[in-house]
Amino acid sequence: MRNILCIGAGYVGGPTMAMIAKKCPDYTVTVVDINEDRIEKWQSETLPIYEPSLKPIVAETLNKNLFFSTDVAGNITKADIIFVSVNTPTKTFGKGAGKAADLQYWEKTARQILTHSKSNKIVVEKSTLPVRTAEAMERILNSHDNGVHFEVLSNPEFLAEGTAIRDLINPDRVLIGGHHSKSGQEAVSELVNIYAHWVPAEKILTTNLWSSELSKLVANAFLSQRISSINAISALCEATEADVEEVSKAIGTDSRIGSKFLNASIGFGGSCFQKDILNMVYLCEYYGLHEVANYWEQVVSINTYQKQRFVSRMIKSMFNTVVDKKIAILGFAFKANTGDTRESPAIDICKQLLEECASLTISDPKAIKNAKKDLEQFIDKIEFEPDPYAAAANAHALAILTEWEEYKSLDYKKIFDTMIKPAFIFDGRNILDHQQLFDIGYNVCAIGKPELSHL
Ligand code: UDX
Ligand code: UDX
Repeated sequence: MRNILCIGAGYVGGPTMAMIAKKCPDYTVTVVDINEDRIEKWQSETLPIYEPSLKPIVAETLNKNLFFSTDVAGNITKADIIFVSVNTPTKTFGKGAGKAADLQYWEKTARQILTHSKSNKIVVEKSTLPVRTAEAMERILNSHDNGVHFEVLSNPEFLAEGTAIRDLINPDRVLIGGHHSKSGQEAVSELVNIYAHWVPAEKILTTNLWSSELSKLVANAFLSQRISSINAISALCEATEADVEEVSKAIGTDSRIGSKFLNASIGFGGSCFQKDILNMVYLCEYYGLHEVANYWEQVVSINTYQKQRFVSRMIKSMFNTVVDKKIAILGFAFKANTGDTRESPAIDICKQLLEECASLTISDPKAIKNAKKDLEQFIDKIEFEPDPYAAAANAHALAILTEWEEYKSLDYKKIFDTMIKPAFIFDGRNILDHQQLFDIGYNVCAIGKPELSHL
């Protein structure tokens, strides 16, 4: 039995390893983390992350061939293949602050692997990293002549939160980058064999290391660029009385453009998009490619602009002031079906509304715990209320910030009757039936659409 180890039991490491354990009963899979609480939760009834369909997969494999532990050193020694999926946040200090990736956890992990390895290992980069990180990793791993051979591979994760299990079971592709040397290609084959337990061969792409590392950044840059493109157009739609949903549909039917990722919104969030683009911008600047850097940085600027624009439109509609007005925020997670709020556009929108002295009641089916942490400095100015009906009572306005399915079927007439008039609804995700809301009596503002106003 070969031993797989994953360092980092987060959103990426946990679900990915649970899937490998399920599909590869001939491997023992261990996930370690320095966070004891997380490791305990993975072995409990309440997993540390919310992800549809994840629980039964963990339950099926736990303590059979899937193990969670805080013993990093001991498990490194036993492992044949080590996936590294520790977090790589944007640097908040020193050179490259705000853009470059903070690689301190990565480097510490590399040193731990070196210290505790007594046999040859394949080390797989699962975290998203700047191009040529594998080179730095190899330099650290090969800095001692202890007779151990390390082969570094890149195998970026493309799963999206909320659909992680579906993405893992049926990926568009699995990307594996390795050196062209004999040992490099042997390591690539070993990793290909793991995925081949359930992924068709034609979907497993192998490339050189640097292409694989760069492809992950580029995939996220292209996806977020599409969102910023349609969001930029949503501003133009509002100015011209075009309807962004109609425009998206019209252009999305062109098979060269495609229909996915064209939903105008309050902006993209999540732990990856902004971080990865800024990381790529930093790389471009490092290589003196300033025009390229400026081009991609615009994707982030439009995203910031979109959030500000949403708040400005709210304030303008509500007679240019929201002071002491109760606004019910429906949805705080960065997207539906997750409790994750990292870089959620709701954070910036709520902060801007609080700066305008609005009084907020925040509701979300899964993210209230994280919302409390994100808005810690304003905690005495906010109420948190899981029930959307209770959150909306006596509010001047509702703002839909996450596209939760359950918000589509709320009884908006019942809600309207409990609100202060004139009642406003700001649909930041374009998920509601705006004409019907207008007919109930709401003043309706949606992204990239003409305002429906009784005033
Ligand atoms: C993933 C990817 O791995 C990362 O590259 C990407 O940029 C963001 O998404 P994710 O799984 O979402 O990371 O991150 P997180 O949930 O923060 O998990 C990382 C885990 O690594 C944490 O549980 C943390 O405790 C652990 N960790 C971190 C270690 O075990 N050791 C360390 O030295 C640092
Ligand atoms: C993303 C990538 O999709 C995934 O491949 C990568 O591994 C990690 O980053 P994730 O952040 O989980 O995944 O979510 P995603 O579904 O891509 O959505 C990101 C953000 O864009 C969300 O805030 C979402 O609401 C927003 N979005 C998405 C839009 O505003 N409009 C769209 O059309 C699509």
